Amino acid sequence: MDFELKTLALAAASSQRCDLLVLLVAEGFAPGPDALSSLAALALKQGDLQTRAGSLLQCYAPPGVAARRVALLGAGDGGAAAVRKAVLALAPVLKVRGIKQVVTLFAQAPQPEAVGAAVRSLAEASYVYTSTKSKPEARTLARAVIGVPAPAPVRGAFDTAVAVVAGVEFAREWANRPANHATPTLLGEAAQSLAKHKPIQCKLHGPAQVAKLGMGAFMAVAQGSSEPLRFIELHYQGAAKGQAPVVLVGKGITFDSGGISIKPAAGMDEMKFDMGGAASVLGTFRALAQLKPRINVVGLIPACENLPDGKAVKPGDVVTSMSGQTIEILNTDAEGRLALCDALAYAARFKPAAVVDMATLTGACVVALGGVRSGLFANDEALAAQLQAAGEQALDPCWRMPLDDDYAEGLKSHFADVANVAGRDAGAVTAAKFLQRFVGGYPWAHLDIAGTAWKSGVAKGATGRPVGLLVQYLLAAASARRGAGRGK
Ligand code: BES
Ligand code: MN
Ligand code: ZN
Repeated sequence: MDFELKTLALAAASSQRCDLLVLLVAEGFAPGPDALSSLAALALKQGDLQTRAGSLLQCYAPPGVAARRVALLGAGDGGAAAVRKAVLALAPVLKVRGIKQVVTLFAQAPQPEAVGAAVRSLAEASYVYTSTKSKPEARTLARAVIGVPAPAPVRGAFDTAVAVVAGVEFAREWANRPANHATPTLLGEAAQSLAKHKPIQCKLHGPAQVAKLGMGAFMAVAQGSSEPLRFIELHYQGAAKGQAPVVLVGKGITFDSGGISIKPAAGMDEMKFDMGGAASVLGTFRALAQLKPRINVVGLIPACENLPDGKAVKPGDVVTSMSGQTIEILNTDAEGRLALCDALAYAARFKPAAVVDMATLTGACVVALGGVRSGLFANDEALAAQLQAAGEQALDPCWRMPLDDDYAEGLKSHFADVANVAGRDAGAVTAAKFLQRFVGGYPWAHLDIAGTAWKSGVAKGATGRPVGLLVQYLLAAASARRGAGRGK
């Protein structure tokens, strides 16, 4: 999908030919003498259009306007959140009408974030999954023009949003793929494909290398499946080689049946999305390739299936993690933390400036926060604040959760250094406390995206979250470092 940002006043827009012209009408709309302004002003006056975000009035070939269709769209206060809400209300129009070209017009000079929100939500509203359809009902929207009174002040936000869209769509497509089309091997190949972009390199570690590294916890998860595991390592180099990287770790369970502690049948198909964290790492690298910020980033993805089998790990088994700590696996369905703990131990070798892991880790986080905010856990106040702020700015929000040591009580084991599960209470927190034991002295944050990585029901599918948050965070980190004079 192509995006273009250009200067377009309302009067000039009247003569633009396109399938659909969308006029965002925010509070304080000041109509000019042109045909579009008159149309919007009349609709507002008659009460057929409100400035409330998402209020929609469709018109066909109105006089004086070259576009075939015009959609007048209330845009609230004109801010990013309101624009997103407004544009998402267009989704049925974009899809059902098979719109190919859309011009979206800001009547008043918008905030940069509002332009970013328009780009991202146009993509979100028109995305169509294609990978495993024999006759893909291809996305019809091919081109979106964003018209503003003056492009220069919003160019940066526009470019960022276009890159985020590429990243989000890469993440969505991979997360949506069924497990037999997104095996650990195929996920490795997807990562490898990103290395065609100049600043990205990819290393794939197979079972033999992972055994050599001593990743006994990760291997325990994989041992019930005949699909060989992959430990994926991505490097994006945008700054001087010596500059400490940010490490992104993504849970890559390509299917989570629960293993011997098997899950109920109903809805189990959704556990193909259990590599949403991995998909967000891949998507973020896709965006980095386009934006080329001056920062170094490492991506780590432990990828495997969690299946029951004669060779599968059993409740009560004790394994030795890469850190040397032994783990009693009391529940084989708490597998994400087992895969992640070895990746967190591995991350230490990069002497990272910060490590952020993303994982569809606990049903308890879905209970706590639903699908609105991801759970944020951090051992570092500054990192927590940066991620929280990035989430707000990218409209991909998260919420800080606690890490008091008292929450770790339940993880005590009679037969190992630690158990992989505690009781039922505060399940998202005890999972994070488990991970924290494997953090090697660097600033660390964990995003539990179990509620936000995909949607169930009619809108079933991956969301591409938290790619928006991560890209925003990395761009801010890159400019902060340069500001502090440490970057090159
Ligand atoms: N992948 C699941 C978490 C999950 C469940 C995400 C439902 C989204 C929706 C994870 O591996 C898991 O099974 N967690 C268990 C942990 C429990 C055994 C301590 C859970 O949440 O039930
Ligand atoms: Mn599980
Ligand atoms: Zn899982």
